[in-house]
Amino acid sequence: MSLAYSYLLFIVLGIFLFCYFVGTWVWIKVVEKEKKTHLQDDKISSNNNIKNRRDFLYLSSLTIGGVGVATFMWPFIKSMNPAEDTLALGTTEVDLSNIGEGQSITVKWRGKPIFIRKRTPQEIKDANKIDIAALRDPEADTDRVKKPEWLILEGVCTHLGCVPLGQKTTDLKGEYNGWFCPCHGSHYDSSGRIRKGPAPENLAVPPYEFISDTLLKIG
Ligand code: FES
Repeated sequence: MSLAYSYLLFIVLGIFLFCYFVGTWVWIKVVEKEKKTHLQDDKISSNNNIKNRRDFLYLSSLTIGGVGVATFMWPFIKSMNPAEDTLALGTTEVDLSNIGEGQSITVKWRGKPIFIRKRTPQEIKDANKIDIAALRDPEADTDRVKKPEWLILEGVCTHLGCVPLGQKTTDLKGEYNGWFCPCHGSHYDSSGRIRKGPAPENLAVPPYEFISDTLLKIG
């Protein structure tokens, strides 16, 4: 169960139990008031004991009932969670240990190709030595990576959605030594930023985190 759904579940149950106990408390008070109105003064003392016992029984029954209803509701609320296999599709784990410097691999995440590139020192240098203000979609390389050597991108051209070339060593990489989209001629640099051609934006960076030095989780 995801953390967000756990919170939702506890909030819903909390609201339910809160309403339940407030309602029970109000109901007991109303019954108590009604009884006070009808009881004779000389019977109050003896009846108070009976009333207190009865209130205790009411409250106990209602509490057990409330817990029972909450338990009954649990599976229905829990069924609102995405299934485990759906959650698994939302993330992809990638072993990075076999990717050498200057190499790229492509994995699938939510139906999209994800480019994972272990950049060379020269590629990192090239990505950082440009005037960011002059870019069509200004973004510093350092804002697009978590570790300089690892560049993680959605391999979807931001023009019309083709998959750019540049993953294979034999591919064209465009004029900026990154990726080249042959559909209409967009050139991306070694940070995946658009440098030339019709694409309006940089290649997107998906959400990801490094679980360890060699394990990446996308999504
Ligand atoms: S889809 Fe990539 S340039 Fe048009």
